[in-house]
Amino acid sequence: MGVPSLQAAFGQVRSLELRLVGVSPCAEAAADRLDIALEDRHFPLEVVLSARAWHDSDVIERWVTVRRRTDADGTPVTVTRLDSGSWFLPDATGYRYSGVFGAWAEEFQLQRAPLPIGELTFTSRQGITGHQANPWIMIDPGDTTEEHGPVWGIALAWSGSWRLTATHRPEGGAAVSAGFGHEGVRWTLAPGQEITTPPVLGLYTGGGFGAASRAWHDHARRHILPTPQEERPVLYNSWEATTFDVTEAGQLALAKIAASLGVELFVVDDGWFGTRDDDTRSLGDWWPHRERFPDGLRGLFDGIRELGMKAGLWVEPEMVNADSELYQAHPEWILRMDHRRNDEKRSQLVLNFARPEVRDWALDWLDRLVTELDLDYLKWDMNRPFTQAGWPEAGPAQDLLWIEHTRNVYRVMRTLRERHPRLRIESCAGGGGRVDFGIMRYTDEVWPSDNTDPRDRQTVHHGFSQIYPISTMSAWVPDSPNPNTGRATPLRYRFHVAMSGVLGIGGDLTTWSQEDLDQASRFIRAYKSVRRVIQQGRLHRLGGIPGQERSAVQYVLGDDVVVLIYNPYGNAKRGPRWLRLAGLDPDALYEVVDAGGPGKGPGLLEPGSRYHGSVLMSVGLRSAAWEPIGADYRSDMIVLRKLG
Ligand code: GLA
Repeated sequence: MGVPSLQAAFGQVRSLELRLVGVSPCAEAAADRLDIALEDRHFPLEVVLSARAWHDSDVIERWVTVRRRTDADGTPVTVTRLDSGSWFLPDATGYRYSGVFGAWAEEFQLQRAPLPIGELTFTSRQGITGHQANPWIMIDPGDTTEEHGPVWGIALAWSGSWRLTATHRPEGGAAVSAGFGHEGVRWTLAPGQEITTPPVLGLYTGGGFGAASRAWHDHARRHILPTPQEERPVLYNSWEATTFDVTEAGQLALAKIAASLGVELFVVDDGWFGTRDDDTRSLGDWWPHRERFPDGLRGLFDGIRELGMKAGLWVEPEMVNADSELYQAHPEWILRMDHRRNDEKRSQLVLNFARPEVRDWALDWLDRLVTELDLDYLKWDMNRPFTQAGWPEAGPAQDLLWIEHTRNVYRVMRTLRERHPRLRIESCAGGGGRVDFGIMRYTDEVWPSDNTDPRDRQTVHHGFSQIYPISTMSAWVPDSPNPNTGRATPLRYRFHVAMSGVLGIGGDLTTWSQEDLDQASRFIRAYKSVRRVIQQGRLHRLGGIPGQERSAVQYVLGDDVVVLIYNPYGNAKRGPRWLRLAGLDPDALYEVVDAGGPGKGPGLLEPGSRYHGSVLMSVGLRSAAWEPIGADYRSDMIVLRKLG
C-alpha cells in the first residue's frame, strides 16, 4: 500500500510477483557485498538488489538492476518506478526530518520539522538535481542535537531528476525510498536490456547531526571524490567583475592583481566564445569570440600562466541558443516533442546529451579546448531545467534520455579527466543546481550558489555542509555592496565567510583600494597556512543560527584546530558570549597560535596562551567578535595547536 520502489507493467498486467532466486554474499577488497536475486513468477523480468557495506565507513550503499530476459515472450515490459533502495526505521513517535530547500541564489536552506504522518516527497523533475530540494534526508527521534542523539541519513548519488519519499505510518514506522526519475517517466525494456540505478547511500549515527555530517564527509573523501587529498587552489573567477565583457586586456588586468595577492588559479567565466555579448546567443559555438579574441585565447592563457597561475575556463556543454551556428546546423539535437513548443529559458534550449552524436561532439570540442589551451580547470555550467523533454527518433525508448543525459555528462567528464589527468572540474548549474554525490565522483569543486553575500552564504554553507564536504564548497569574496543583495559588509567578514570553504575571489579587483588589496593578500596568506585543516579537517558547527546569531565553524585535523567566528549583528545581546569548542582531546593542552581579532578582556585569547581541551570544550573561549557591543559583521579566525 506504500509508495512503490519498483513498479512494472507487463502488457495489461500491472503488478509484480517476485520470488527469491538466490543470495550471493561476496567479499570485495574494501567492502562486503550482498546481491539478492529475484525474478517475476511469470514474466521475463529479473531484479537484483545489491548492497555494499564498506569496512572503513558507516555508509551502506545500495542499488538495483532490472533486466528483461531474452525469453521469447512478446509482452511489453515497462518499468515506471525503479528506486535505488528503500530504508526502514523502527516504530517510534515523534520522528523529525531534516532536508534542504531553496531557489536560485538561495540554495541549501536547512529545514527541520516533525515528520508528518503520510508521505513526504522531495523531488526534481528538471533533469538536474535542482535548486528546490537536494536528494537527501535525515531522520531523528525528535530531540537529536548537533552533538547528541540518533540520526538516520539517506542520500541519492544522482544528478538528474529524482524522487525521495519518506513514509510515516500512524503506528510510528518510517521508511524512505529514493531513486532516479519522476512520475510519468516510463522505460520499456527490449529483450536482454537492463537498467541499473544510481547508488543510494544510508548511514546511522548516535552522535547527533554533527557526527552525521562528519560521517558523510569521511565517506565522500574515502569513496566518492576523485582528488580528496589535494589542497584546492585559491581561485579568481571573472563573472561578477566583468560578466559578458570578457577581453584579453580586461582579464589580464584582473589576473595581474589576482596573482599579486597570491591567487593560484584564474578562471575566465562566460563571454569568451561565439558572439557572446549577452545571454541571448552563441551557446554551442565554442570557439573564441572573433572580435574580442581575433588571435584566439592563447595569448590570454599564456599571460595568466606567465603570472604564475593555473588557468580555467567556463563552459556550458549541454546547452544551445537558437541564435547560434550549432542550432542552425543541428536543430534536431535539442530535447523536443512533435507538435509542441520549444520553450526557452535564459534564451536557451537543452541539447539532448543522451544522443551519442551529441555526447561525442561535446567530448570532441572539450578535449580540443583543454588540449589547445592546456587548461587546468573547467567550470561546467548548466543553466536551465528540461522542458518538452522528448526524443522523437527514439520511439518508445525515449524516456531513457532522463537517465542517459546524466550518464553521458558523467562519461564526458570522466573521459576528459582520463585524457587530461591534471584537469580539475567544477560543477555549477545556475549556482547550486547540480550538487550531489553523483556529480562529485567526477568533479573536484561545486558552486553552491550565485548569491555571494556573506550573510546569506553562511546559511547556504550551513545547509551544504550537512552532508557535503568542505573541500568541494567553492566560496568567493565579492565586492561590497554585494552585487546580488546590495548589502555592505566589511572585507574581513567577506573573507572569513569565504575562508570557511574553498577560498576564491570574485570581486572586481581593479576597483579595490590599496588598503583592501593589502588586507586581501594577508587573508589569502593566512588561508593558505590553514587550508588543509579547513578543507580536510573534521567539521563542528558551533553557536547559534548562522547569519543571524553568534555562530562559528571549527575544523580539526590531527593536532591543528581552526575556528572561524561570526557575529552579524554587533549589538545583539542574545546567545552565549563564550564559545565552547568540540572534538578536542580533553586531556591535552592547546596553544593559541593565532588569537584572531584585537581586543582585551577576561577570557579573551592571546597568542601563546594554553588551555586544556576540557576547558575549551566546557567553559569555552571568548573572541572579540562575540563581545556584546560593537559594530555589525565582526568575525575572527582563531588557530590552536595541540601540544605533544
Ligand atoms: C550561471 C553561473 C554563474 C555564471 C553565469 C554565466 O548563472 O551560476 O556563476 O557562470 O552562469 O552566465
